[in-house]
Amino acid sequence: MDNKFVPDLGWADVTPKHLFFSRRAALGALMAAGAGAMLPSMGVADDGFIATETPNSFEEITQYNNFYEFGLDKEDPARLAGGLTIAPWQVQVDGMVDRPGVYELADLLDGLPVHNRIYRFRCVEAWSMVVPWNGIELRALLQKLGVQPGARYVGFETLVRPEEMPGQRRAALDWPYREGLRLDEAMHPLTLLATGLYDAPLPRQNGAPLRLVVPWKYGFKSIKSVVRITITDAQPKTTWNMENSREYGFYANVNPQVDHPRWSQASERRIGGGLFARRQPTLPFNGYQAQVASLYEGMDLTKEF
Ligand code: MTE
Repeated sequence: MDNKFVPDLGWADVTPKHLFFSRRAALGALMAAGAGAMLPSMGVADDGFIATETPNSFEEITQYNNFYEFGLDKEDPARLAGGLTIAPWQVQVDGMVDRPGVYELADLLDGLPVHNRIYRFRCVEAWSMVVPWNGIELRALLQKLGVQPGARYVGFETLVRPEEMPGQRRAALDWPYREGLRLDEAMHPLTLLATGLYDAPLPRQNGAPLRLVVPWKYGFKSIKSVVRITITDAQPKTTWNMENSREYGFYANVNPQVDHPRWSQASERRIGGGLFARRQPTLPFNGYQAQVASLYEGMDLTKEF
C-alpha cells in the first residue's frame, strides 16, 4: 500500500492522451452520451474565488485522474468509469441534522445556487492543475439540512458498487472511500460540492455526479461520487489516514514546509506544463492562506498535518 502514492513520474507517464478534439466536441459527445443531463451544471453565481492561472484543458482534467475504485493508474478512471450508473443517484444524510433522510440528488440540491469557481488543485503526490468547477457551496446544503447544536464534523462516503467499479473488486483500500472535514472547514465558502466542470456535467472519472472540492487541502480530501453525508460530534475516519496515519493526516492542508515522509512538498509539477517546464513552488494552503489560515490559529501544523 505504501507505494500507491508516488511523488512524481516521468513526463511520458503523465503527458495527457490528447484526443485532439475541441472542447465543444467533447461536450457534445458527453451530452450525446446522456452524462447526467438532469443536473444543473451551468453556474449562475460568479464570485471572488477565481484563480488567475489558465485552467488546464478539459482533456487534461479528465484523462489524468486518481479514483482507486476504478484502478490505480492515472488512465484507469477515464477508461473504466463509463459504466457507472449516475442516475438515479441517492445521498443518505444522517447524524446531527434536522432533516435526515435518503435524498434523490435533484431534491438534495434543489434551490441551491451553482457557482463557477476556478481553483488550484494540488495532489499530495506533488502534481497540480487548475480546474474550472461548477458546484454548490457545501455550507448552503448544510444550512438547508439544518446542522444541530453540538455538531463538530462532517463525514462523507463514496459509493460501493463493485459490479460497476472494478477497482473495488480488490481490497486496494478499505471501501468505502471515506473523508471528513471539521464543521468550520465544511462551512467555509471555498468548500464546494462540485456537479460540473467547464460548464458540463461532471464526468464520471472526476467523481460524478457529486464530489467534494476543498482547494486548500491535498486532493485526497476531495472525495468523489458521494453517497453519504454524516454530521457528527466525533472526528470521522478518513481513508488515507486509516491506510497510513504517519503519511496522511486528517487535516491534509497543503503545506510546503511539512514534507511527506517520502518526498518533498516544497514544489509541484503543473500538469500540461510541457516537457521542459520547471517545477513551481507550492504555496501555503495552496495559495488560499488569506482565506483559510485563521481556521488553524493556535494549531501546530507540523503535528496536525
Ligand atoms: N475519491 C474517491 N472516492 N476515490 C479516490 O481514489 N482519490 C483522491 C480524490 N478523491 C479518490 C477520491 C485523490 S488522491 C485525488 S488527487 C483526487 O480525487 C483526484 O481528483 P481528479 O481525478 O478529479 O483530479
